[in-house]
Amino acid sequence: MKLHIAVLPGDGIGPEVIAQAVKVLKAIAMEFGHIFTFEYGLIGGAAIAKTATALPEETLSMCKKADSILFGAIGEPKYNFDPNAKIRPEQGLLKLRKELDLFANIRPIIAYDDLLNLSPLKNKCIKDSDIIIYRELSAGIYYGEKTLSEDGQSASDICRYHRFEIERIAHLAFKAAQSRKQKLTLVDKANVLESSRLWRKVLMEMAPQYTNVTLDFLYIDNAAMQLILNPRQFDVILTENMFGDILSEEASVIVGSIGLLASASLGPKYAMFEPIHGAYSKATDKGIANPIASILSAAMLLDHFGLLEEAALVRKAIDKSLNLHITTPDLNTKYDNISTSKVGDFIEDFIHNPEETNLNFTNIHLGQSTII
Ligand code: IPM
Ligand code: MG
Repeated sequence: MKLHIAVLPGDGIGPEVIAQAVKVLKAIAMEFGHIFTFEYGLIGGAAIAKTATALPEETLSMCKKADSILFGAIGEPKYNFDPNAKIRPEQGLLKLRKELDLFANIRPIIAYDDLLNLSPLKNKCIKDSDIIIYRELSAGIYYGEKTLSEDGQSASDICRYHRFEIERIAHLAFKAAQSRKQKLTLVDKANVLESSRLWRKVLMEMAPQYTNVTLDFLYIDNAAMQLILNPRQFDVILTENMFGDILSEEASVIVGSIGLLASASLGPKYAMFEPIHGAYSKATDKGIANPIASILSAAMLLDHFGLLEEAALVRKAIDKSLNLHITTPDLNTKYDNISTSKVGDFIEDFIHNPEETNLNFTNIHLGQSTII
């Protein structure tokens, strides 16, 4: 298969982790005889520095021409303490999602057996957790009208949803539930918010089309508690933009590190793959950023194009790296010198040599090829 992929490394640790994902995709292309080409674009703080806009036109048109998009991370600390900044890195990502109509952000939360001890939660609670969050990504409070009064003393953000925006992601979530454990939970705040009541109404009306799916409803405050109290009760969670942002980050505690969570952002025409973590600027260029979320995002890209065997091999390589503790410091309990690129190298080598008979640990620690 020929795929032209737009790569947007972004800010902070974005470039380092994306480099590993690209490395892995190149290894897959080589092993399976695909032709993957990569074209790089600016976004976020990196784009502001060079072009005074967080999403240059050039980047947007490059993404529209590509078959798919791989995104790194966004955000720079200097903007966090400047509430008056007119241009912010995050605007680049938000505009891109909107322009490409990426309305469904799909975030799988899977507890790896090898990592259960890394979670502060009890093993017995989290073992076998397997949840998928469908987060609405192109509407809601993120995109509603924003105001700041002239005297700067009051501000507002509107949370608006149209029926069609709820229906289109709900169809995807119902279908996902059908192919999993047939359970769909809508997370909302329908006891307070009108927009949440519209979500409930629409979902109730749609439910008869999916009779084999059990639909239930949970308020966001309760859901935030249930998610860490008993994550196994969930199968597919559907929720609006901001609740999904918060809940998925909370869910990373089940998995052990936010550096493990990948996502797919899908729309009618375009598809982007992005780790759920941020730019983690403090870690930039230190070689400590976990590349697995990025590499798993690349695996989701392969899935999206029906390259299931390829995606499975990437996941097998990741499982192996976790199993052997070839991981960055956020996960590593055994070795302290495994860098972002060494994890990428290991996964790349495994893809070339999945028989795993020739893995050489001395070389891993020297940062050289793991295959002898
Ligand atoms: C995410 C991030 C973004 C979001 C930020 C960087 C705008 O937190 O993808 O989860 O809030 O959607
Ligand atoms: Mg987030």
